[in-house]
Amino acid sequence: EYKRRKEMFRAHDLAAKYYHHILMNTDVGLPALRYLEERGITRTTMEAFSLGYAPQGWDVLLKFLLKRGFQEDLLLEAGLLSESANQKGRCFDKFRHRVMFPIQDGQGQVIGFGGRVMDKDAKPKYLNSPETPLFHKGRHLFNLHRARPDMRRVGQVIVLEGYMDVITAHQHGIGHVVAALGTALTVDQVRLLQRNVQEIVMMFDGDEAGQKAALRSLDVVKESGSEVKARVATIPDGMDPDEFLGTYGKEAFTRVVLDNASSTTTFRMLALRKDFNLATQQGREDYIKSVISQVLSTVQSPVELETHLKELSEEFGYPREALLEEVALTRKKAP
Ligand code: CTP
Ligand code: MN
Ligand code: MN
Ligand code: MN
Ligand code: MN
Repeated sequence: EYKRRKEMFRAHDLAAKYYHHILMNTDVGLPALRYLEERGITRTTMEAFSLGYAPQGWDVLLKFLLKRGFQEDLLLEAGLLSESANQKGRCFDKFRHRVMFPIQDGQGQVIGFGGRVMDKDAKPKYLNSPETPLFHKGRHLFNLHRARPDMRRVGQVIVLEGYMDVITAHQHGIGHVVAALGTALTVDQVRLLQRNVQEIVMMFDGDEAGQKAALRSLDVVKESGSEVKARVATIPDGMDPDEFLGTYGKEAFTRVVLDNASSTTTFRMLALRKDFNLATQQGREDYIKSVISQVLSTVQSPVELETHLKELSEEFGYPREALLEEVALTRKKAP
């Protein structure tokens, strides 16, 4: 009920402040501070995102919050504690020895955390809050409340994969960035974004997983029925935005990655290319048929369709009338 939710918000607020204090002001937090500094994060940025450190030990946060009058069962339901698998009713801190990234809702209230290990081989790399009355993974976006003014000013949002991508972008003065807290965007997340911007640029990691998530997100935007424009920016060399910004800086990020973002149609066509051997006549023919049936036959705008038919025609040497005929046939088969 309402009062219990309010208590959960308060517990998260206190936990975030506590983790942050440990990171910034204590010896226990030093390894985490060094870790973030080595990754190029300034103290100003750590403050801006209220980054923190959850110490080693089973009941550090538990004791801190019990002293402040919270009940164990509420903290467990809020996802700040875990329950022992073999001793029911025994609770311990969910996050231990991790760098902490508070996740806030649209109003800036802390509703969950992501926690990162510092040791290379420790697993899982990120531990996130479970689904709780406050936190539903697919319904929030990391950094939305902070990014909103910039999103409205620019009319655009850049959707990145991870916490560190968002934080590094912010530190480089790119404020209109959020992260989907899973792999691909959800319909709920698209709705949150389209209220504020005319255009969503997906900028997932340059690896295969990232490219798949981008494709899936495009489907979700379409499925959402939103009028919002979507484009996909591809980061070269399998890098992620954090690595790219750290290596090449903001100017290259804007010029090479952002300004070259592909339209939805172009990105889908490019993605399909990988499935065919364009060195053979059969491969080229199959590719064109797939592009038409899977991508071009769904393009509503005749002008946009014409652009791509012309491209295809020039690259593969088929007359554009034949391609258009193929589009018409596909549409007749599956209207
Ligand atoms: N993620 C997660 N759980 C994991 C791995 C990833 O929740 N075990 C989420 C995190 O939000 C993470 C995002 O997916 O930020 C992207 O994953 P990945 O690219 O693997 O991590 P990075 O964000 O690049 O993290 P880092 O740079 O710290 O290695
Ligand atoms: Mn502070
Ligand atoms: Mn990734
Ligand atoms: Mn990444
Ligand atoms: Mn990364």
